[in-house]
Amino acid sequence: VFLKQWESQVRPYIEMIDYLRRIGIEKDLALPSIAVVGDQSSGKSSVLEALSGVALPRGSGIVTRCPLELKLRKLHEGSSWTAVISYRDVQETFTDPSQVEGHVRRAQNILAGDGVGICDELISLMITSPDVCDLTLIDLPGITRVPVKGQPEDIGDQIRRLILKFIEKRETINLVVVPCNVDIATTEALRMAQGVDPNGTRTLAILTKPDLVDKGAEADILQVMQGKVVTLKKGFIMVRCRGQSDINENLSLAEATKLETEFFKSHIHFSYLLEEQKVTTRCLATKLTKELVEHIKASLPTLTEQIQIRLSAVKLELRNYGQGPPMEPEKMGSYLSKRILEFSDQISELCRSGTSGEKNIYS
Ligand code: GDP
Ligand code: NA
Ligand code: MG
Repeated sequence: VFLKQWESQVRPYIEMIDYLRRIGIEKDLALPSIAVVGDQSSGKSSVLEALSGVALPRGSGIVTRCPLELKLRKLHEGSSWTAVISYRDVQETFTDPSQVEGHVRRAQNILAGDGVGICDELISLMITSPDVCDLTLIDLPGITRVPVKGQPEDIGDQIRRLILKFIEKRETINLVVVPCNVDIATTEALRMAQGVDPNGTRTLAILTKPDLVDKGAEADILQVMQGKVVTLKKGFIMVRCRGQSDINENLSLAEATKLETEFFKSHIHFSYLLEEQKVTTRCLATKLTKELVEHIKASLPTLTEQIQIRLSAVKLELRNYGQGPPMEPEKMGSYLSKRILEFSDQISELCRSGTSGEKNIYS
């Protein structure tokens, strides 16, 4: 039953937006999507990894240097894992998940150079597999303040400008990633999101690293989770991803998911959040898909309206061109001579009065 509902209630919306993106409509109007923002090392890539099941480039310092659009498409059980990476006029297909990291790094080096610079150009990575959820997410460079060696003085501003370009669009759901072990309310990512969405209607916050909460700070975190510190209509979700030691010990993503559930089940302060469906990456995936579909539905009237406006403009322009040449070759002769006569009339008119009188394709 669940799968049937999914197929009929989720898929059509996501596929429609995908289709509009594919035919290049985004050049003219913004389409609904989810952007991931946060400070450097807040856990953005870890969250995306947990959602997609693929290891993404990560590490300390700046790793995400171009916007990365991650399109996850669920296929039926038994189908195989496939990825397509596209940027500029490059498009490559591969079937080995361990190659994701290399492909993304290569793309970033081509677009943003070998160093530590950033770039506005989008890298698109589409993953189709039975094990992912239907989501399109955009990973963005992490917010930094202090430039590192080789970065321009204004790298912080460059990154903020790039992030703003994505999060200010009304069609974007902003996923703000904040670690539990910082002062959550004053986080810059949350402030930026509030700046473009003061009522918090399209902002969802994810609290990461709950295993690193200082002893005694749990009550404060719960206040945040309950929306008593910052108000967001879409609320807060807490996830526990792989830490550096988990990675060093080669803990797989699947094992990490089990560990995450165990972590919350046995947590003295956070376990009740399980029943409220406010914790785990699984819960996050379900919520995000639901939110995205709601968001697409809500955006449809505006999308339709914008398309209508463009359509009328194009129709009007088209009318100025009059009738095109005939399809039948035998009618071409008379068509052309008519056009030439019209043209010569206009030239005569132009010579006589200084204006051709009529606005048409020759003007
Ligand atoms: P990004 O820079 O925002 O993409 O952050 P990353 O995803 O690269 O994470 C930064 C560091 O935090 C990495 O070493 C991760 O392994 C670690 N990390 C992420 N989530 C968690 C978590 O829930 N718990 C712990 N202990 N570490 C985490
Ligand atoms: Na990082
Ligand atoms: Mg990252």
